[in-house]
Amino acid sequence: MKIAIPKETRADETRVGASPDVVKKLIDLGFQVTIEKGAGLQASFTDAAFKDAGAAIAKDASSAVKSADVVLKILGPDPKELIHYKKDTILIASLGALSNPKDMKAYANAGLTSFAMELMPRITRAQSMDILSSQSNLAGYKAVLDATSEYGRALPMMMTAAGTIPPAKVFIMGVGVAGLQAIATAKRLGAVVTATDVRPATKEQVESLGGKFLEVDPEMEKDAQTEGGYAKEMPPEYFEKQKKVVAEHIQKQDIVITTALIPGRPAPVLVTEDMVASMKQGAVIIDLAVEAGGNCPLSKLGEIVMTKNGVKIVGHANVPGRLAEDASQLFAKNLLNFLTPLVDKENKKLAIDWDDEIVLGTLVTRDGKVVHPSLAGKAAAKKKSPGKPKTPKGKGN
Ligand code: NAI
Repeated sequence: MKIAIPKETRADETRVGASPDVVKKLIDLGFQVTIEKGAGLQASFTDAAFKDAGAAIAKDASSAVKSADVVLKILGPDPKELIHYKKDTILIASLGALSNPKDMKAYANAGLTSFAMELMPRITRAQSMDILSSQSNLAGYKAVLDATSEYGRALPMMMTAAGTIPPAKVFIMGVGVAGLQAIATAKRLGAVVTATDVRPATKEQVESLGGKFLEVDPEMEKDAQTEGGYAKEMPPEYFEKQKKVVAEHIQKQDIVITTALIPGRPAPVLVTEDMVASMKQGAVIIDLAVEAGGNCPLSKLGEIVMTKNGVKIVGHANVPGRLAEDASQLFAKNLLNFLTPLVDKENKKLAIDWDDEIVLGTLVTRDGKVVHPSLAGKAAAKKKSPGKPKTPKGKGN
């Protein structure tokens, strides 16, 4: 069984789909591992470290993947790169499957069997394979550090002979995996932390980390969570209430970190232009949802915007990639944990149970077709009613 890890080619991607530790484990599973030259450099993994772990180093992407049975990547390949892949190669990566249906069609046409890691079902058995959790956790931590470096003051209270510095006020909007880590990190740095979310379960989580929960409407929030643990899109009345509560609170904040996402929908607007205009000179907003459209309409992907009233709005792309070594290490572990049950260790062969919930949940293309229900369903609906303007809603990534 041959496994290949090519260099990532998409803009801003610093991570790599394997670490030397994971290479050793893949070899123990019975794989021959090939890494493209320089693939790990931005994540501080040298070719020598991969070689010591037992991998072969290929001179380019084509020689890395051309005979691979399995390709592990961070992001799905650009369709232009598919000429290097042999038919029936198993591709495992974060494909952005629901937002890139054209790429999925290209993978199907190239005969790839592809698995989208971002579609991992949120069940206990799959927790160790969950890239959204492993990467969001790092993003939440890094968001606080990014805020501290843009903020012109300290976070903890300091009593010095020259005077007392008050603690910074940090407000976290959206308390999922990233938000919880941001709360914990800001608390460790001595800030006074408040947080809000639509899902009622988060109140207790915020308080257990020493933060104060900002409540909007507990009655409406009772129905805010899907069975899968994600937030639902809230009705306009809720947003009106949320706006009032947040508008009053946000003027007093020094740092605001927004992380709110709704699967398959654009990120909700939580910090309006008026709210930004009401904030203090020197305040910092970190918009972790910027890649999904942003929680603040003023944030710009890949930029730090300075507003007229002196508020900095930070829209870094690929925040987990700003901690490329840890992010790669954890992502690679997620990939390994996904791949391990697909291998018959005794016979050193792939043995995929196509009826398994995790396989069904992540499988996007097979036998030349796009097979994931969220995408295959859309294509079928389109065929049935050609020309109809209505687009079916789908879950996102
Ligand atoms: P996410 O990245 O989809 O969203 C981030 C946060 O934004 C969520 O907490 C969401 O409720 C919040 N949000 C959405 N719209 C909002 C609005 N209008 N106002 C305020 N907040 C809003 O969520 P993430 O981080 O992926 O986690 C969602 C849940 O899934 C969490 O409860 C997490 O603990 C759970 N989870 C479960 C796993 C499992 O295996 N069982 C694995 C990972 C996470």
